[in-house]
Amino acid sequence: MIRKCLFPVAGYGTRFLPATKSMPKEMLPVVNKPLVQYGVEEAIEAGMNNCAFVTGRGKRAIADHFDISYELEHQIAGSNKESLLSSIREVIDQGVFTMVRQREMLGLGHAVLSGEPLIGPEPFGMVLSDDLCVNPDGPGVLAQMAELFRQFRCSIVAVQEVPAAEIHKYGVIAGESLREGLYRVERMVEKPTADEAPSNLAIIGRYILTPDIFDIIRDTAPGASGEIQITDALQRQARDGCVMAYKFAGQRFDCGSVPGFVEATNHVYEHMYGR
Ligand code: G1P
Repeated sequence: MIRKCLFPVAGYGTRFLPATKSMPKEMLPVVNKPLVQYGVEEAIEAGMNNCAFVTGRGKRAIADHFDISYELEHQIAGSNKESLLSSIREVIDQGVFTMVRQREMLGLGHAVLSGEPLIGPEPFGMVLSDDLCVNPDGPGVLAQMAELFRQFRCSIVAVQEVPAAEIHKYGVIAGESLREGLYRVERMVEKPTADEAPSNLAIIGRYILTPDIFDIIRDTAPGASGEIQITDALQRQARDGCVMAYKFAGQRFDCGSVPGFVEATNHVYEHMYGR
């Protein structure tokens, strides 16, 4: 059973400036719910009630969001507005939220390592909340991956096919197909050019990581963009045959980009109001 989920939320969100000048990008709302809450709900649905945030300066709103707002709740108690807070109250009641600060922005691998004191020696999920994933007809993506973990006991990355023109934005895998939608990863490359890419299967922001990843990251040199990359650390696990790539059921929106964010907003709105 995986109990913990890591949320690296220290990034600046420059693509959404000026909206993210003084507000964390993870708090941008898709309709009426901040992006990060979608990720936390997905983690809790997968049984990962212990949510560990790797935060940075200027991210205090995230900690406040997952805490009681005594004044506000007192103010609207008994009014017809009370129900508007019910989704976040439910999350707060079910979850445990811990935070640590990443003091320097040295890459996603470094962010994961900064979360080690919150995770400890156990397997854990990871959500990059820029990626909003939905699967209205079945379990969420993390729950699907947790189920696979029970079977394989290896790190797992969620992948999807992307067009050649987009591949340079992602970590890309190559592997042996075990069954429809499931691969044993043989090679992975962070942000390759379309020519270098070993396949069209791109990693999206859902991972299950085994705790040996921490020691591997400590020993991983900076890679693409001069940053310590989680993909490079995973590549070392893949060499030992213990990384799976999973083509998930559902839809993923890249909310780190304006078009993806608008698409997600339209999708959630249509789903909520049946428009
Ligand atoms: C990160 C990872 C990359 C992955 C992507 C998914 O990149 O390094 O391997 O494909 O998330 O969203 P970033 O988007 O932070 O540059």
